[in-house]
Amino acid sequence: MKRTKIISIANEKGGVGKTTTTHNLGSALAQLGRKVLVVDLDKQCNLTSLCGGAGEKSICDLIYEECMGRSTPAADVIRTSENGLDYIGSSKMLDSMNSQIASNPDCAYVLKNIFSSAEFEKYDYIFFDNKPAIDILTQNALNTSDGIIIPIEAGLFAFDGIDSILSKVRSINATTNPRLKVTGILYNKSEHVTEFGKAIDAATQENFGKLMFSTQIPYRKAQTERAISMNTGCVNMKNNTLAQVYMQLANEFEARVGRNY
Ligand SMILES: Nc1ncnc2c1ncn2[C@@H]1O[C@H](COP(=O)(O)OP(=O)(O)OP(=O)(O)O)[C@@H](O)[C@H]1O
Ligand SMILES: [Mg+2]
Repeated sequence: MKRTKIISIANEKGGVGKTTTTHNLGSALAQLGRKVLVVDLDKQCNLTSLCGGAGEKSICDLIYEECMGRSTPAADVIRTSENGLDYIGSSKMLDSMNSQIASNPDCAYVLKNIFSSAEFEKYDYIFFDNKPAIDILTQNALNTSDGIIIPIEAGLFAFDGIDSILSKVRSINATTNPRLKVTGILYNKSEHVTEFGKAIDAATQENFGKLMFSTQIPYRKAQTERAISMNTGCVNMKNNTLAQVYMQLANEFEARVGRNY
């Protein structure tokens, strides 16, 4: 029986590749024929831009209406990118939604209530692209999710903060969402480190063992930016060397979440 898997991409550290991972993993799964929705939960709106820009309504409308006890049809908010990826955009107003959520009696589950709607059941996967902070909105995302992917940027401080996220996951497991699992830690921008950094990373990777995706995303600035400039995922471009890597990540991801098609 199919059930939509909801996955948060999160790390309190900025610039590690949360948005790039959401966009490219989502695009790779869509290319495998899965029905995928990506949701921008960051007021920077980077994912929204990558997917083709904001529409009239954003995630803020869904949150506001839910907090007012009303509902907005998802179809009014979902847009489709040129490469066939469904997305819900964000807006600069997103931070002001935190006070709406906080004053709601069901404040831990506002997003969960929104995404429990039957309109979202058609998706195989929903991905939340989170901001680089764990505030009430990110906590809502984690309370709604079956899994969390934690991208880290290769280098000396790659593993900084991972202990704090993993302890956050344990505390959420004990309180608001026992279902949340670590889908994997994703090593991004590999090969972009000094020998000293590599030695430290190798030692630290050992500590996290099976939590690490065996797929690593190499540092490819030009390839990443070329896809961005064309509002598409690397997997949708000919001659993009990251395409194969993201397809491999998509396959490993599906094995990890127990989906065999
Ligand atoms: N594998 C890669 N190779 C080269 N550049 C990359 C790679 N992955 C991401 N980048 C670049 O790194 C920058 C940060 O990536 P991204 O915006 O995905 O990070 P983020 O974690 O979402 O950032 P924020 O915390 O601000 O939301 C972007 O300029 C992106 O193009
Ligand atoms: Mg981002």
